[in-house]
Order: sequence, then C-alpha cells, then structure tokens
Amino acid sequence: MDVIIRPDAASAEALTAEIIANALRVKPNLTLGLATGATMEKVYQRLADMNKAGALDFSLCKTFNLDEYVGLPAEDRNSYRYYMNYHLFDRINIDKRNTHLEDGTAADLEAECAHYEQLMDEAGGVDLQLLGIGLSGHIGFNEPLSSFSSRTRAVNLTPTTMAQNGPYFDPAKGEKMPNRALTMGVGTILDARKLVMLVTGERKADIIAAALEGPMTSMVSGSAIQLHDDCVVILDEAAAAKLTLKDYYRSAFENDPKWDAYRNI
Ligand code: F6R
Repeated sequence: MDVIIRPDAASAEALTAEIIANALRVKPNLTLGLATGATMEKVYQRLADMNKAGALDFSLCKTFNLDEYVGLPAEDRNSYRYYMNYHLFDRINIDKRNTHLEDGTAADLEAECAHYEQLMDEAGGVDLQLLGIGLSGHIGFNEPLSSFSSRTRAVNLTPTTMAQNGPYFDPAKGEKMPNRALTMGVGTILDARKLVMLVTGERKADIIAAALEGPMTSMVSGSAIQLHDDCVVILDEAAAAKLTLKDYYRSAFENDPKWDAYRNI
C-alpha cells in the first residue's frame, strides 16, 4: 500500500483526479468503480473540467458505484444516482447506459444485488475503484462486522452513519434518511484491480489511522484494503494527523520513481 500525504484537501483531490484521469487515458474503456459523499465532489468537478477542456474522454468508460440507499428512486435528490448525475455524469461525455448503480427501489433486493455482481463480471471486473471512508470505518456501506468476503447485498446502517449522512435529509421537505442500503461487499471491492482511497479532514484522522495502521478487523471495514496489493491512499495533513509512520510515507512518495509525475500536482 502507498500512503500519500498532501498539504491540503485541494491538492489531495487534484492528485486523486489525476490518477483516475491517467488510468482512463491509458485504458479508454476503463471500468471505473465510483463513490459518492462530500469528499468526492471536488474530484468529480476536476474530472468534469478536464472533460470540458477536451483533455479527458469518457465515451468508452463504464462505471459501477459502490452503493445506493434502499427505497430512494433516481429522481430523489438524496439518491446516489441523483448525486452521480449531478456531480459527474451530466457534466461529461459518458454514455449513461454505461453507468451503473444498484437499484434501491427493486422489488427483490437480493436479485438486484446478484444482478449487479453479474453486470460487473460481464464488464470484466472493476479496473480502478475509488473509495472514501466513513466515520464508522465503512467502505461502501460495509458497516462494522461486514465479512471481508461479503458481496453486494442489503445492509443496515449504523447510528454513526445515520448521524454522518442524516444532515443531508431535510425533514421540513418530508425527507427521511433510509436506514438500509445496497452496497458492494468488502470482497467485491477487493476484487477491483486497483484501489484509490481519498480521505480528507480532521474528523477522519482516528478512523483512517485505525484502518491503515491498526489490525485488520471486520470492526473497521476499511482495514480490509491492507489485503490489496495495488492500493494507494491519498490524505490531507488533517486526516493524516494520527498516523505513526508519516515520515516514512512522505519519503517513499518523494523517492519512488512511480510518483515522479505526481509530485507537483
Ligand atoms: C459513498 C461511500 C461511503 C463514503 C463515506 C465517506 O458511496 O461509499 O463509504 O465514501 O461515507 O463519506 P464523505 O465523503 O461524505 O465523508
């Protein structure tokens, strides 16, 4: 695993966007695994800007998102389909038919999840999976005690996650956060050929230290990325605050030739 610490959130987002952009330039028909959440908004903005400037082509790209709330249709402003259309898909030259999220309104959620796994298989698997981490340690919506071999399925959200995402829902407008979601499993995520995790902000400092430097445990789903042999974690200084090997991560980034093109981003 590589851990890269950037001075601030903007440079961490820029580096993440550049890694994704380069992967797409190398393989125009990339299958991209995507995440939602506040952390990713500026990454998508940067990718959309590159697309608009003619520097990035999404026409052959396929996408699979990590997760979706149970019960929220695409047109609900709190659904992750809505988020993805708003922050990325409507701003780039992607064929919407190549963009996939679980359908949280499906009558048979188990069948929907099995179908989602099948679609990923048929696409040849995910080449690059973008990840954030939640305050509960979740990746996707894999809450504590999710098996490291779990696949796409319906899950129950923890009070921590309800508190993290609850503020996006406005009760005055009749909005209520679902307490269930569909998510790629930890095992599904680990099947991606490359993992790119972006974590910013002081409030994530404890959980990212537990995930990266703590023991691998299903109590912190994010710790499962320690099992992946092609994984980069990009942090800002605030999120990196509790890591014990910061100096080592910094010198590795400065010295490893594979990061030559990325140091000045
Ligand atoms: C969302 C997802 C989650 C988020 C995590 C962090 O698709 O998979 O794991 O990445 O909850 O969310 P933010 O960025 O809002 O702190």
